[in-house]
Amino acid sequence: MSEAVQTSSQFTPRVFSGIQPSGGLTLGNYLGAMKRFVDMQNVGNFETIYCMVDLHAITVWQDPEKLRHATRELCAGFIAAGIDPEQSILFNQSRVPEHAQLAWIFNCVARMGWMQRMTQFKDKAGKNAQNASLGLFAYPALMAADILVYHATHVPVGDDQKQHLELTRDIAIKFNHDYDTEFFPVTEPVIEGAATRVMSLRDGSKKMSKSDPSDASRINMTDDADTIAKKIRKAKTDPEALPSEAKGLEGRPEAANLVNIYAALADMSVDAVLRDVGGKQFSEFKPMLSELAVEKLAPISTEMARLTQDAGEIDRILDRGAERAREVAAPVLKKTYEIVGMVGA
Ligand code: AMP
Ligand code: TRP
Repeated sequence: MSEAVQTSSQFTPRVFSGIQPSGGLTLGNYLGAMKRFVDMQNVGNFETIYCMVDLHAITVWQDPEKLRHATRELCAGFIAAGIDPEQSILFNQSRVPEHAQLAWIFNCVARMGWMQRMTQFKDKAGKNAQNASLGLFAYPALMAADILVYHATHVPVGDDQKQHLELTRDIAIKFNHDYDTEFFPVTEPVIEGAATRVMSLRDGSKKMSKSDPSDASRINMTDDADTIAKKIRKAKTDPEALPSEAKGLEGRPEAANLVNIYAALADMSVDAVLRDVGGKQFSEFKPMLSELAVEKLAPISTEMARLTQDAGEIDRILDRGAERAREVAAPVLKKTYEIVGMVGA
């Protein structure tokens, strides 16, 4: 057995997460995912591995030129947000073939019934599910492979990924059971903070998403200060003043969303925010929120734009990241092949 691989239940504390390079980054991606990736890089004794999941992106059609650009821009976004490509491993998924190879094994572990329950597939496939790609259906098995090919123990994500992480755990458990081993860790989802589900600025019942047809529904990481202020000014609210405690936000999804965004940007609890702003009207709170959002996001978007210009430097970072990622992934795949019974593994 390869020495680089651990088979006991004591796995190295290791974080993996990914974001699709399928268009611009939103405030939801930043607060629900990226900002927390940075926190996990800087706190505790985790090894951190972050990935631009280009193979996931093509489960729905992507223009090749735009995909290349979006991948480099996303890499710039990671770095601008505070991911240090020396401290963390930062790379694009397709460069490490072990993801796709392990995904095939997991396609043979996961059951049709499990996949058919995935709500993200139902949402993305829409009414015409027969016309969705097979890749979109199999997507969660690739996601499990992304995580488990590094024996990752912790996965920070937004709330929408919870079901996929439960499936990842089910795949690890079934594999371990079927092959009578404890080879794969049962990964912990890390879904924490005030902004695990940032909602649309136009409709408090819908997730803020890069694919929403209305640009006013989201804040993009590339929006300038005026655009951010305008979108927040126009954000849907209700006529009531802000409450002084979190309980007062119940049944007020738009108000709750803006307060959650404020809390996440300011690194404060919702209760602490409401102690400060309770009793204020939205006409007073919205400019405070805009000012905070611009203060936090403008330096990131400026740096992201600067780094995106230098494709050569981004590509060097991705080369190095892929090389480091493969050093971890290759022995795990090799051992998996051995366990499964592949000759010559
Ligand atoms: P995606 O852009 O779909 O690849 O998502 C990348 C990461 O951002 C995942 O961890 C998502 O859960 C997270 N995310 C996306 N949209 C939101 C949102 N509106 N609120 C919180 N997290 C989000
Ligand atoms: N499915 C995730 C999303 O759409 C992206 C993703 C792919 C991911 N592989 C992952 C997230 C592994 C965490 C871990 O947002």
